[in-house]
This record gives sequence, structure tokens and C-alpha cells, in this order.
Amino acid sequence: MAGKREEARDNRRGVVISDDWPGYRLDLFTYPKHYSGDLDHVLIPHGVIVDRTEKLAKDIMNDIGYCDIVVLCVLKGGYKFCSDLVENLKNISRNSDTFVSMKVDFIRLKSYQNDQSVGDMQIIGGCDLSKLAGKNVLIVEDVVGTGRTMKALLSKIEKYKPNMIKVTSLLVKRTSRSDNFQPDYTGFEIPDLFVVGYALDYNEYFRDLNHICVISEQGKVKYRV
Ligand code: IMP
Ligand code: MG
Repeated sequence: MAGKREEARDNRRGVVISDDWPGYRLDLFTYPKHYSGDLDHVLIPHGVIVDRTEKLAKDIMNDIGYCDIVVLCVLKGGYKFCSDLVENLKNISRNSDTFVSMKVDFIRLKSYQNDQSVGDMQIIGGCDLSKLAGKNVLIVEDVVGTGRTMKALLSKIEKYKPNMIKVTSLLVKRTSRSDNFQPDYTGFEIPDLFVVGYALDYNEYFRDLNHICVISEQGKVKYRV
């Protein structure tokens, strides 16, 4: 039994990328040439993100696929993960006998400038949260760093009494600054590094990069505001 419990806890952490993982050299993959010198290495190649997302969708459908859900995409960083996840959820429900209805909504938050959190999370657009009353909500986020953004969002949504809230995040950072927030479904647990690509940005740059990469010091300086 203990083994099963440990397995369940490990599954919640997703694919664990250790602190000493060197990643892949950039020249082994394709990437936009305007970013040459601005990236240090590839942490997670695009293909691996795609494969992991397929399994997350399967896990989510097994758990909550019997009810109508509202997928709440956290913009902008979550848009790639959300759209690929929704494609997979649609594929699964199209090919199974259980009928699942899914609505998609968006919320825009702001909490980072350069590579630093700028204090309180602000909602700067999108879904009127009162619409989530009584609904089964699946929040789709790009990365949980300290966890403060997600905790703040959850407490705002909880005020409107949804029937259920689940959180999926493509990435969760292992950091000493963590509030110990653990999503219900995690793609990858990563070292405490600032990462970009696959819609994750640094001051709006790097969203047009497929792989999840670690930004270089040159990149941080070049795009700093
Ligand atoms: P937290 O409040 O520290 O958990 O930060 C969460 C938010 O900050 C995420 O939704 C991201 O938008 C942003 N963020 C945190 N770490 C990174 C990163 O490494 N790259 C890009 N965005 C990040
Ligand atoms: Mg985000």
C-alpha cells in the first residue's frame, strides 16, 4: 500500500527533471536564429512536451471526464499548453462512449517583470469569474514558480463557489521560495531556472520558440526592461 501511495505522490510531481540535468545543446535542434546567443540550452524538447501532454489529457479524462468542464486557460503563457491539452481532450472524448461537454475560457494575469515576481497577482482581463459559480473548473497554467499566483487565483475563484476546481500546470519549479502549492496534474517538475519557449516568455520575447529552454545571461540583459 505504501508503495502505491508513493507512486501516486510521484505521479503528481510529473516527470522530474533533476538539478544536475544538463539538457540538450541548442545546435542539436532547430530554433529561431534571432535568438542565437540568448539561450543556454534546451531543457525540454517540443516533442517531449507533446507526448507528456497526451498522457496528462488521459489522466484528466480518467478523473473528471464524466462531467461537463470549463477549461480556464491562464494567458498568455498557458495558451500553447491549453490548446494542445484541449486537442487531446477532444480526441479522447470523440473516441469514447461517454459524452463530455467542454467550454474554454481565458483569464489574463500579471505577476512577473524581467525574471522577478512583482508582488501581488493582478487579473488584467478575460473571464468574468462569477460565471464559474457551480461549474467544474480546470485551470490550465504554464508554470508554477512560488505558487503565489495560483493560490491567489484559486482564492478569488473559490469566492464564486464552483462545484469543483482542478489545476493542471505544464511545469512546477523546485524552489525554496515555494508556497508548497502542488497542482492536481503536473507535466514536469523542473529546477529553479527561468525558462522560456512554448508560449512562456521573458518580457514578451521567446513565445515564438517551440522547445522549453533556459535563457542565457546575454538573453536576460538583451530583453530586460
Ligand atoms: P509564481 O507566482 O511564482 O508561482 O509565478 C507564476 C507565474 O509567473 C506563471 O504563471 C508565469 O506566468 C510566471 N513565471 C514564473 N516562472 C517563470 C519562468 O521561468 N518563465 C516564464 N514565466 C514564469
Ligand atoms: Mg502563467
